[in-house]
Amino acid sequence: MVRFGVIALAALAISLSDAAEPTCSTDEVQFAEGCVKYEDAFQQTYDFLYSNLPSWDKTNKQSLGFHDSVTPDTDGLDDGIATLGLNISLDAQQKYSWAWDLPQDIFQEYVATYAHVNEARVDWRPMLSTATSSILDNAPSDTALDTVEDVVYYINSQMWHTETSGLINNVTFKSSQTPLIYDPMSTLVFGYASCTGVSILFADALKTVGIAARVSGTPAWNGVYENGNHNWIEVYLPETGEWAFMESNPAGGGETLSNPCDKWFCSPAKMANGTKFYSSRFDSTSSTVYPMAWDLENLEVPGDDRTDYYQDACNKC
Ligand SMILES: *[C@@H]1O[C@H](CO)[C@@H](O)[C@H](O)[C@H]1NC(C)=O
Ligand SMILES: *[C@@H]1O[C@H](CO)[C@@H](O)[C@H](O)[C@H]1NC(C)=O
Ligand SMILES: *[C@@H]1O[C@H](CO)[C@@H](O)[C@H](O)[C@H]1NC(C)=O
Repeated sequence: MVRFGVIALAALAISLSDAAEPTCSTDEVQFAEGCVKYEDAFQQTYDFLYSNLPSWDKTNKQSLGFHDSVTPDTDGLDDGIATLGLNISLDAQQKYSWAWDLPQDIFQEYVATYAHVNEARVDWRPMLSTATSSILDNAPSDTALDTVEDVVYYINSQMWHTETSGLINNVTFKSSQTPLIYDPMSTLVFGYASCTGVSILFADALKTVGIAARVSGTPAWNGVYENGNHNWIEVYLPETGEWAFMESNPAGGGETLSNPCDKWFCSPAKMANGTKFYSSRFDSTSSTVYPMAWDLENLEVPGDDRTDYYQDACNKC
C-alpha cells in the first residue's frame, strides 16, 4: 500500500509538472482566457488602474507614474510606484505557473494594484518581490509548491522572520497600531503592526508571486463599534473561482484556506446580530463602500459586501 502510494504521488508530480509548461510565447502573458501580448496586458492594466484611482491618488497621478498629457521625463521622473509595479506584476504572471489560471480582470484588480485601502503609497513591490522569489527559490526540493494554497502556506511560514525572508525585520502582531502603522514599509521598519498592517503586508507579498489577495474584515462585531473590528485576507483560488480567507501567521497561526472554522472569529457568537463583512476592491464602479474602521467618514474605497458568505460559513462552525 505504501509503495503504491509513492508511485501514485510520483505520477501526480509528473502530471503537474507537465501541466506547468507555458503555452504562451515570451512576449505574451498567460491568463485563464488565453495568451495576451505583454504590451496589451500592460496597457489594459494601466487603463484599469488609471480609470479607478481614488481622488487622493488622482491628484497625485504623475507621482504614481500616470502620464496622459505631459510628456514623460527622460531622466527617471516618469517612474512611479503604480506603473513600475505593472511590469513586475506581469513578469510574475509569466513566471509562476499557478498564476496562469487567473482571469485577467482578477489580475488587474487584485494582483497589479499598488494599494488595498487608504494606506500610504510606498514602493513595496520590488522589495517584496525579491524576498518572495528568493523564499521560493530556496525552498527545499520536497516542498509542495504546485497550487495557490501550497504557495500561500509556504510564504506565510517564511516571510515573518528575517532569517527566512531576507527582509529587515521580524514582524509580529501588536494590537491597536492602525492607523499609525499599516502600510507595508512601516510594518517592516517597525517590525510590528495590528491586524490591518499584517494583512496588507501578507496580501502584498502574495501579489508579488501572482496570487490575487485582498483585505477583508468587519468594522464592528455584532454591529456594535465598541465591540471592535478585525481584518484578515482573502485569496482567490483559481481551481474553484472562489475567495477563501485566512490570517497571516503573526495575527493567527496555522489557519487554512479550506476550513472556515479554524479561525477564532468564525463562530455563531461573532456572527450574532448580523455582523457585516466586506472585502476591499479597486474598481470604483462598485456601489459598495469598504468601511475602514479607522476612517469611517471616508467612503472612497470600493468593496464587496461579503456578509452572506461569512454569515453562512461561520454560523455552521
Ligand atoms: C514596461 O512594459 C511596457 C510594455 O511592454 C514597456 O513599454 C515599458 O518600457 C516597461 N517599463 C519598464 C520600466 O521596464
Ligand atoms: C528575529 O527572531 C529571531 C527568533 O525567531 C531572533 O533570533 C532574531 O534575533 C530576531 N531578529 C531581529 C532583527 O529582531
Ligand atoms: C445589535 O446591533 C445594533 C446596531 O445595529 C445595536 O444597537 C445593538 O446593541 C446590537 N445588539 C446586540 C445584542 O449586540
